[in-house]
Amino acid sequence: PEQKADVKAKIKKLLKEQDAVLVAHYYVGADLQELAEETGGYVSDSLDMARFGNEHPAKTLVVAGVRFMGETAKILTPEKRVLMPTLEAECSLDLSCPIDDFNAFCDEHPDHTVVVYANTSAAVKARADYVVTSGIALDLVSWLGDKGKKILWAPDRHLGTYIQRATQVEMVRWQGACIVHDEFKSRALGELIEQYPDAAVLVHPESPTEVIELADAVGSTTQIIQAAKDLPNKQFIVATDKGIFYKMKKAAPDKEFIEAPTQGAGATCKSCAHCPWMAMNGLDNLLSVLENGNNEIHVDEEVRVKALRSTQRMLDFAR
Ligand code: 13P
Ligand code: SF4
Repeated sequence: PEQKADVKAKIKKLLKEQDAVLVAHYYVGADLQELAEETGGYVSDSLDMARFGNEHPAKTLVVAGVRFMGETAKILTPEKRVLMPTLEAECSLDLSCPIDDFNAFCDEHPDHTVVVYANTSAAVKARADYVVTSGIALDLVSWLGDKGKKILWAPDRHLGTYIQRATQVEMVRWQGACIVHDEFKSRALGELIEQYPDAAVLVHPESPTEVIELADAVGSTTQIIQAAKDLPNKQFIVATDKGIFYKMKKAAPDKEFIEAPTQGAGATCKSCAHCPWMAMNGLDNLLSVLENGNNEIHVDEEVRVKALRSTQRMLDFAR
């Protein structure tokens, strides 16, 4: 196999030659995050990935993450070529919400404002009134609630429950879950908190309600990295994909990070705090995609135009 340094050098050269920029999520491997940083690209949560791609002048966006992230980039900037190291990287939330079933659910609640998580297909976004990420979901739904709107929320049931409890808005919810965050166990987390009484608990809101209830800070990946910097604690228990530790340790190098438990009493975990689809992104398939121009994201134009409306509202709200 080629040396890692050689592969990285080739990727850097091709990115430059093709006027391409690499945008990566915190959950992909450290190699890819490092490469994005070294080449003028960006590593962030799904909201800032969308913003960065939307604003960057490069002709090609290479999105290292899962499919909805590439699709969101294409929805926002159809004039750009959007490539992904793999087109097989799904998301269990996206998979849980097929468009035909979702349409039927929306049809059953015609008087509800449809708010969907970015972790959905372009077709689902096309049906929605608003797209949100975990970074703005609470604020946007709260704003809609203040206007007296009833909310249809999809697809993450835990994030939906968290928002509903915090805002008291009238809400119907799709029952999807993230296979990674759904595995965090509240009882075992409680035991860990007893073991580390001075640690603050950082939780991504795709985690189960009982886990969120134990949190000191709840938020998107970017927001919990910020909390690790801002909170005075020296130790943190972190309930999200372990890919986040690369950046979290850089952001707060003098602090200690402990993984939240995924194994409760007798329970086995399917995905052990690392998203199997994020893990499909690597240096080798990134190089191959730049060499061959394969794995380009395409979104049907009629669907894209409809999805742009709800997705643009996400960016406008986040300003
Ligand atoms: P963030 O927007 O917080 O990065 O979340 C995206 C995601 O897929 C989390 O599992
Ligand atoms: Fe989807 Fe969960 Fe993977 Fe995020 S971690 S991409 S929500 S399956």
